[in-house]
Amino acid sequence: MRMDLKSQTIDKIDKLVPRYPTIRSAALPLCHLIQEDQGYLSKEAIEWIANRLDLQPINIQEIVTFYPMLRTEPTGKYHVRVCRTLPCALAGAYSTCRRLEEELDVSVGHTSEDGLVTLEFVECHADCGKAPVVMVGEDEYTDISPDRATELAKKIKNGDL
Ligand code: FES
Repeated sequence: MRMDLKSQTIDKIDKLVPRYPTIRSAALPLCHLIQEDQGYLSKEAIEWIANRLDLQPINIQEIVTFYPMLRTEPTGKYHVRVCRTLPCALAGAYSTCRRLEEELDVSVGHTSEDGLVTLEFVECHADCGKAPVVMVGEDEYTDISPDRATELAKKIKNGDL
């Protein structure tokens, strides 16, 4: 089975796998490395990881299903991540996320049908004093109340970000 991986990724995998006395423990770090390389974990990627670690694809599939930060779909043009750790949650991150779901027509954990947006929850971005925090790509937006989420969504839809 062939996967088009960057040579740095292959190097990292080759160094990482022998470090784990129990081969199964290498599965999660490998999922992260492949996702970093490919943007998501396709069916082929899951089979490739299983093959590399001498496991069954179902063993990898279970990991991918369990960890919300692992994706099985390509990300949209805009990757929107809402922090849901306690300070952001208390400041209304769930309402902010609901508003983004409505405005962008996508449910959290998924990519919109038009491929414009992937919306996800993430954990603390270390800017808790300005909660709720939302990331769009690598840019951070702070104090994102539901109304400000509407403004943010409009900019995304208009391609103004
Ligand atoms: S809890 Fe959201 S930035 Fe820290």
